[in-house]
Amino acid sequence: MTARCLVCLADLRSEGESEYHPRCARALFGSTRVPTIDLELARLHTVAQAMVGHTSLSGVQRKVSMGLTADRATLRVAMEKGHFILKPQAQVFPSLPENEHVTMRIAAVAGLQVAPSGLVRLHDGSLAYLTRRFDRTSAGGKLLQEDFCQLGQLAPKQKYEGSSELCARLVRRYASEPLVAALSLFRQTVFAWWTGNGDMHLKNLSLLRGADGLQRFSPAYDLLCTDLVVEDDQLALPVGGNRRAVTPRQWLTFASYCGLTPKATARALGQVHAALTPSLHLVARSWLPDDMKTRYARLLEVRARTVEAAAGKAGEG
Ligand SMILES: Nc1ncnc2c1ncn2[C@@H]1O[C@H](COP(=O)(O)OP(=O)(O)OP(=O)(O)O)[C@@H](O)[C@H]1O
Ligand SMILES: [Mg+2]
Ligand SMILES: [Zn+2]
Repeated sequence: MTARCLVCLADLRSEGESEYHPRCARALFGSTRVPTIDLELARLHTVAQAMVGHTSLSGVQRKVSMGLTADRATLRVAMEKGHFILKPQAQVFPSLPENEHVTMRIAAVAGLQVAPSGLVRLHDGSLAYLTRRFDRTSAGGKLLQEDFCQLGQLAPKQKYEGSSELCARLVRRYASEPLVAALSLFRQTVFAWWTGNGDMHLKNLSLLRGADGLQRFSPAYDLLCTDLVVEDDQLALPVGGNRRAVTPRQWLTFASYCGLTPKATARALGQVHAALTPSLHLVARSWLPDDMKTRYARLLEVRARTVEAAAGKAGEG
């Protein structure tokens, strides 16, 4: 395969120069200049430990807050005010950065609004996942981001103690434009199921208060196919009490619980289904190992049939 861009996965015109298209580097780093990554993997564990309490990051996968130096030449660990989050290879589960990267690309193709993200190559040659924070302003300010655990007044450790219906109620209560946010919730929920994501819990969904003061659904983050590393993984937040084989009928019931019209529901489901072909292309071009590519592609194909059937039913109603 010819050289692929570490952001969009498309071919690079000239080999060897940079691993990014200029526009892709700009989308991720904020400028066409690709920074050097200053991160000592051996020290990472200590750094990540020291960060507990310093940042709002709360997950279990090792991740570090990073920031660009003033000249934009280097990306390095930044306790406060980091504009980036970096996730290196994990010890227990293989290829998580590659998995999250391709899943975020698939989400963009499926029409979800996503956090800017890409892969970066570390000193040892390994790939790490990098995302630019959407809750930071260029002026150095911070936008208020509240995840659904906070909105539901639950403790972080209760992040799996919810349901998709609870999220719909929280959206209705707290989003400034509830129907718009409910559509985002529905699309993210269908997407999580389609892509075998068993880690879409209450802290992986958020509302973000924009500079205009409106509370909207935040761009999607932390999307990955956990099914590739945890056999037969189930939805973290059930839909109609169901975590595994959600039926077309149950998708429509959830859509109507979200307040969506049949027309909007059909359109949302249709958009996910239409993303199948380009998504298979992305999986084939991703940095996942071959066996994972095969399994991911199969999962997408099989579940897209349910999504298509649900879109058809919604269209009838
Ligand atoms: N691009 C982003 N912009 C702003 N905030 C983000 C972004 N990506 C992640 N976050 C925030 O950082 C938190 C941790 O990130 P993320 O969920 O990706 O890590 P994680 O370790 O995989 O989490 P977990 O395993 O608990 O789900 C998120 O819950 C979210 O609040
Ligand atoms: Mg998370
Ligand atoms: Zn690119």
